[in-house]
Amino acid sequence: METPRRFAKPFLPQWAEFAERVHFIGAARILGACIFSVINRKNATSRRVPASTALVFLLLASALFVPRATAEPTAEVLHWWTSGGEARALKVIADRFAAQGGRWVDNPIAGGGGDAARTVAKTRILGGKPPTIMQWHLGLSLRQLAEEGLLGNVDEVARAGDWDGVLPPLLVANAKIGGHYVAIPVDIHGENWLWTNTKVLAAAGVAAPRSWPEFNEAAAKIRQAGYIPLALGGQGWQQVIVFSSVALGLGGPEFYRRALIELDAQSLAGPEMEAVFAELRLIKTMIDPGASNRDWNEATNLVIAGKAAMQLMGDWAKGEFIAAGLVPERDFGCEASPGAGNGYVIAADSLAVPKLGDPEQRKGQLLLAATAMEPAVQRDFSLAKGSIPARRDVAPDAFDVCARKAMTIVRESRDLLPAIGSSMGIGAAAAGAITDAVSLFFARDMTPEQGARALRDAVAGSR
Ligand code: BGC
Repeated sequence: METPRRFAKPFLPQWAEFAERVHFIGAARILGACIFSVINRKNATSRRVPASTALVFLLLASALFVPRATAEPTAEVLHWWTSGGEARALKVIADRFAAQGGRWVDNPIAGGGGDAARTVAKTRILGGKPPTIMQWHLGLSLRQLAEEGLLGNVDEVARAGDWDGVLPPLLVANAKIGGHYVAIPVDIHGENWLWTNTKVLAAAGVAAPRSWPEFNEAAAKIRQAGYIPLALGGQGWQQVIVFSSVALGLGGPEFYRRALIELDAQSLAGPEMEAVFAELRLIKTMIDPGASNRDWNEATNLVIAGKAAMQLMGDWAKGEFIAAGLVPERDFGCEASPGAGNGYVIAADSLAVPKLGDPEQRKGQLLLAATAMEPAVQRDFSLAKGSIPARRDVAPDAFDVCARKAMTIVRESRDLLPAIGSSMGIGAAAAGAITDAVSLFFARDMTPEQGARALRDAVAGSR
């Protein structure tokens, strides 16, 4: 696999793919012969075919009659896994795919949370040029694509590998739509984690906070000790992760469900939600002025480098700590976000399979489905990514304490709550409305009452 770049490369234009598939030497010979004959005939014929037409004709002929240079299963994989940890994880799948004879064409679209990548993928599908495989969250937006008839399936691989048996029922319900596996589940992420730098906490004389009042006290001491209390990137989806962690911690799983899944108007603007916005107002004072538009992994780097003490972020952040050579519990801490108890906000990544015409790409989809579901691939992917495997038969032995905590919660299915951005609980319109309202609150000087009312109104407007 090519090393994923930090920034998106433009999609390889069709002519380039086409050119790659013909024998260049053969084409060059024909082109040479063609130029030669056109020059020779120049004065000898009265009804000359224009030189340019002859050239185009011969080039096309060479492309049509010269066999394709590659016939291996091919997969152009569109994804937003561009950070250090994410790239290491994806390489596990890509390497295995290549070792099984596949040709991997990497198409990274930068932008944490995946908004940009999903937009590009949708545009491509609607324009009739889908990627072979695309990273997608399991949830309502995947279901919608399937119901619109835009997805294929990998049923034969799923049947052979007993996916119904090896995946948790929640993932089966979200990946198998209308009886067809339209996506390959690869991992389960938790979003409500608090990551800490253990040296910085020690220097400030505080322990990892377990409640929001403790969090506020710790932040004040960390600030006094000269560190940034909370590393954050001022992007809507990151702010929503903080918001949902506060909602879970202060209101509990029942409140989270009522307000952020059932979208109950009274819960969205009631006193519990006002308390959430009051905490967010404090949190705004705990971040540094450089936060605006910072990527999530740059925020993680502040914690890794010992400039900031804490970050509230999904467990993909652990992939960055691990990639930087840090050891859990010694160098960094992973705790459930303050007050979360056993509430766990989850998002599941999958590799979705658009409907395709090209048989080589179809072969690529099937090979990738088999490869990405291999137990060892799922294990190694999650070890690098910070997630836990989608399969439930992967032994926990190789995993660290953070992942084992996650495995226990997920396996015992206690208070699993869908993440706002993952669309497992609510659709993209409601998620967008919540994100806009939370971003507005971070950007403006609003009271908690104004914040809660703006949230309720935004959600109402999205329905
Ligand atoms: C995805 C993760 C990814 C993160 C940051 C989330 O939406 O589920 O796999 O690491 O975004 O890009």
